[in-house]
Amino acid sequence: MDLGVKGKSVFINGGGEGIGVLVAQMLAQEGANIALADLNVEKVQETAAKVKALGGEAIWFEVDVTNQAQVEQAVHKAIDHYGKIDILVHIPGRGERKPFQRSNREDWDFALNLNLMGPLYSTKAVIDNMIANKGGSIVYVVSDAGRVGEVNNPVYSAAKGGVIAFSKSLARELGRHLIRVNCVALSAMDTPGGRKYQAQIAERKGITLEALQKGFMSSYLIRRFGRPQDAADAICFLCSTRADWITGQTLSVNGGYSLF
Ligand SMILES: NC(=O)c1ccc[n+]([C@@H]2O[C@H](COP(=O)([O-])OP(=O)(O)OC[C@H]3O[C@@H](n4cnc5c(N)ncnc54)[C@H](O)[C@@H]3O)[C@@H](O)[C@H]2O)c1
Repeated sequence: MDLGVKGKSVFINGGGEGIGVLVAQMLAQEGANIALADLNVEKVQETAAKVKALGGEAIWFEVDVTNQAQVEQAVHKAIDHYGKIDILVHIPGRGERKPFQRSNREDWDFALNLNLMGPLYSTKAVIDNMIANKGGSIVYVVSDAGRVGEVNNPVYSAAKGGVIAFSKSLARELGRHLIRVNCVALSAMDTPGGRKYQAQIAERKGITLEALQKGFMSSYLIRRFGRPQDAADAICFLCSTRADWITGQTLSVNGGYSLF
């Protein structure tokens, strides 16, 4: 399926591991130019090499998405290099992983900075360029926790719910500039981040990872965890011209964990 992204420039925050790698590869294969940003400099370089091995264009930046100056610098360098940014994909996120009663201001700041402020910083950095170019597509990776809540991640859930509300408001503000804004909401994923989280829960409960996963699985209508490819397919669709009349939406990619 032609995604209509040939010659478009894509900025991917969280392009070092898991979902971001697949998004970069898929969009590069469709002829898009890729700018990758990640905290993990070795991993992001590896992704750039993978894109180049496919014959694609890739540049990379070491960026902490909680640092607005770093995000802005990287986006502006990408705009200098490619001339524009047409598509922004924002992936990084992680919960505070504590009950609210036991959490403190430091935990809240961590969850809000990474999950809410990060998307705001990357959006602010690309928006003038998208408006000047009369179009664009923004996709945030959020969580079903932002729609139905999650034990031990209340501030993460608040932040992800905040991004969903932000995306709807932004879609309303920017539609007249032909900029679309959507979210992909995930549930338990078999990604490096997801695996670490599940191992922590299993340890806390004093059970094996296998026992935990079996218990989790019963909440899913499609009885498996999400694969990075499941997320990447939905993200690439929403980025693409195939979704030209879709904006302000949150698409849950969750194996039927929660139904909307
Ligand atoms: N893993 C899950 O089970 C799950 C469930 C629901 C939603 N999600 C959401 O999916 C997204 C991806 O989750 P994941 O578990 O695949 O992530 P991950 O931990 O595998 O990280 C994705 C990428 O983001 C990078 N990253 C992390 N912190 C960063 C920072 N501060 N600045 C720049 N880059 C940073 C990582 O290095 C990695 O390359 C997140 O938004 C998460 O909230 C994940």
